[in-house]
Amino acid sequence: MKVKGTGQGIGRRSGTDLKVRVKTAKGRKIGSTLWLQRQLNDPYVARARAEGYRSRAAFKIMELDERYHLFKKGQRVVDLGIAPGGWSQVAAPIVGSTNANPLIVGIDYLDVDPLDGVIILKKDFNDEDAPQALIQALGGHQVDIVLSDMAAPTTGHRATDHMRIMQLVELAADFAVRVLAPGGTFVTKVFQGGTEHELLAMLKRHFATTIHAKPKASRVGSAETYLLARGFKGNVPEDRE
Ligand SMILES: C[S@@+](CC[C@H](N)C(=O)[O-])C[C@H]1O[C@@H](n2cnc3c(N)ncnc32)[C@H](O)[C@@H]1O
Repeated sequence: MKVKGTGQGIGRRSGTDLKVRVKTAKGRKIGSTLWLQRQLNDPYVARARAEGYRSRAAFKIMELDERYHLFKKGQRVVDLGIAPGGWSQVAAPIVGSTNANPLIVGIDYLDVDPLDGVIILKKDFNDEDAPQALIQALGGHQVDIVLSDMAAPTTGHRATDHMRIMQLVELAADFAVRVLAPGGTFVTKVFQGGTEHELLAMLKRHFATTIHAKPKASRVGSAETYLLARGFKGNVPEDRE
């Protein structure tokens, strides 16, 4: 139907058995040094490099797929915040997306290297015409899975960061209920303590089940977690314009 409107687990290492220590170099801020140290000691970063994945995030969606069987052959997928492309890289072979018959479209305001079977839009998802552009890219068809790993750059100001994250999640959820086919799935990154009751209530109204899941590849200390809403019930008139 067309749209009318618009892993395996890897053991973690504690901070005490880090292999590589990075000295704070002149001009490098402590935050950057800690980030570099974390990257150099992160088994998922090493595994992504060894296995040719574009991001360590690829292992998060792989694990969610292993646990919840998200992707099936022939499904259409929208990947919000696609860069650098790890999630779509995992999804494309499973849904059978090819350049001749692309089933996946991704959006990011950052550049993304071409990816087999994936249409990439360089655009801000906040742009008014972004939803339409995504649906047009898939030939106007309804979508089976909307993925959102979008995260706004943090400012360090807790309340502001929380608000910006929630705005993105709400925008993604609103998009999902407009474009999903009945039975469809919405997967979004959220932050613990940040899933507003209103949003969860809206998702519960529209989907048969909602689950919070934190994949092992999601850093232990981070508040990041994922929300899976499955079994889309179909469009409800008041949620459409
Ligand atoms: C954690 S990364 C996604 C990683 C990706 N899932 C992967 O596996 O490679 C989050 C992405 O969301 C993008 N993003 C954040 N806000 C966005 C927006 N308003 N529109 C489009 N992309 C956005 C960022 O540019 C960033 O590339």
